[in-house]
Amino acid sequence: MKIKSIMKALLFKTGWLLCLIALTVQCKTPTKEEPSPVITGKYTIPPKFPEWVHQAVFYQIYPQTFYDTDGDGIGDLKGIIQKLDYIKSLGVNAVWINPFFESPFCDAGYDVSDYYKVAQRYGNNDDAKQLFEEAHKRGIRIIFDYVISYTSVEHSWFKESAKQDTNKYTNWYIWNDNTWMNPPEAYKDAFVKGYSERNGQFMRNFYWCQPALNFGFAKPDEPWMLPIDHPDVVALKEELKNVLRFWMDMGADGFRADMAGALVKSANMKGNDQFFSSRSDGTKLFWKEIRDILKKDYPEAFMVAEWSNPQDALDGLFHADFFHWFDGYNDLFQKEGWRILNGYSEGHSYFDREGKGNITHFLESYMEQYNAVKEKGYISVPLGNHDNARLGNQRSDDDLEIIYAFGMTMPGVPFIYYGNEIGMRQMGADWPQVEGAYKPRNGGRTPMQWTAGNNLGFSSAPSDKLYLPVDTAKDAPNVSDQESNPNSLLNRTRKLIALRHIEPALSAYAEFIPLYAKENTYPFVYARAKDKEVIVIILNPSASETKADFNFTYEYKDLELIAGKELAIEKAGGRMNITVPGQCYAVYKLRL
Ligand code: GLC
Repeated sequence: MKIKSIMKALLFKTGWLLCLIALTVQCKTPTKEEPSPVITGKYTIPPKFPEWVHQAVFYQIYPQTFYDTDGDGIGDLKGIIQKLDYIKSLGVNAVWINPFFESPFCDAGYDVSDYYKVAQRYGNNDDAKQLFEEAHKRGIRIIFDYVISYTSVEHSWFKESAKQDTNKYTNWYIWNDNTWMNPPEAYKDAFVKGYSERNGQFMRNFYWCQPALNFGFAKPDEPWMLPIDHPDVVALKEELKNVLRFWMDMGADGFRADMAGALVKSANMKGNDQFFSSRSDGTKLFWKEIRDILKKDYPEAFMVAEWSNPQDALDGLFHADFFHWFDGYNDLFQKEGWRILNGYSEGHSYFDREGKGNITHFLESYMEQYNAVKEKGYISVPLGNHDNARLGNQRSDDDLEIIYAFGMTMPGVPFIYYGNEIGMRQMGADWPQVEGAYKPRNGGRTPMQWTAGNNLGFSSAPSDKLYLPVDTAKDAPNVSDQESNPNSLLNRTRKLIALRHIEPALSAYAEFIPLYAKENTYPFVYARAKDKEVIVIILNPSASETKADFNFTYEYKDLELIAGKELAIEKAGGRMNITVPGQCYAVYKLRL
């Protein structure tokens, strides 16, 4: 309660007048009512979690552009197997692989046409089995993408469902009962008409080629809307559980649930929210059943949601939730219209040299969620992914290192998007837009850069046959060059990942306390603590030197720098005073 009120005060108290002062004077004179953040070292480990998750660092692999072993220009599972030693060398202990199932690739494999089969271009099911085994030999866990809110139009279930005659699959998708009648207003953009001989329009869950599987409606108020316990809905859900068991029994260690909040339909969601936000308790009920299967039969398995609403996703359901489909995430990394490239955002990223960003908007949403879920599960603020522009978008290696220092020291489970460890760059909007990868996704899914050689070591195929062209810049970063340079981003990232495993205070559950986070101000300072282990993290992504002066009553003998650069720090009278050069960060461990 106390911490909550301190945070509230930190975030909201500054009025417009103080804002003005803060803009001109970087270090605001402390006022009487300034709160004293209290580091207690207390924490709760979320119950019934696999032990390995508390220290987990994930690496995300986009299979089509990671490593191509058969020379067809598209990455494959054998390629991932070949690169497992590299992955291990990063220090990560888990990998999420984007969908590798059979698909016509209208949405890069997120349109599954056979849940039980690896797409030919990636290899076959034996390769998947081997991948799980080889990863396990190296102490690496692999989670797959469980994409079950829709299938491809090419899935045999959908082809059956689209037939005029009633059959087992008729109700497995959502169809209204009259092609000429518009669906209710709330769903008006979500239906596709005239697709097959079946009279009715089907509901999509994303692109037109991704018909929504029928998890039922929270409030079925049309005859064609089924309740969530309708026998056909139940039959579908049972089949999807079989899909889960199939991959788990083959050796997977869990899954990432695609669009996890968008299963059961309800009319209260609009626009993109209908795809990503909580719709009803029925959705939660389904994930609860899945969690129970894991608890009982796969107790070491991990499930993470693409939901971006931790309070819903972690309500006894998932172990972790990706928190990136919200404004606060953009505030961190992609606030500029040219960075997010969808034309819907204006402003300045906090992690940018120009130093015009604001950490408090992110922190406000984050703390609200964090305080609500910290005893239940983990929030994951991903370090890039396949749906966003790369973090390496007009950012130097130094800029990126500060971002990774943030990622590796925040609570929860970090995920690093492949290639970010070497600073791969976002390609321009004119890059080919293959398989539903419209900007900025096209520019962030380019082939992994292994060497300076042909196709940057990704594939032996002719360059025009690659899934996406590689970065053409003369100084495009690559693994091989960075391996031999101790100060490369690759090696600096490895050090930060290693910290996460070594330091108890950086465990996913260790206490998180913002110490200095002010509107439109740098640096951002916070502590992580577990019992008597305390770490203080100071981040100044801006190019200018900046100062912070804040209450800090915790007693210690010495500060040990464990990452970043040594700073000028004074501690007197229960306050800490820090001077941070531009583009600089420091991670200090308190010696008691
Ligand atoms: C998820 C995936 C994204 C995909 C979408 C619809 O958000 O991350 O890549 O396009 O689902 O399938």
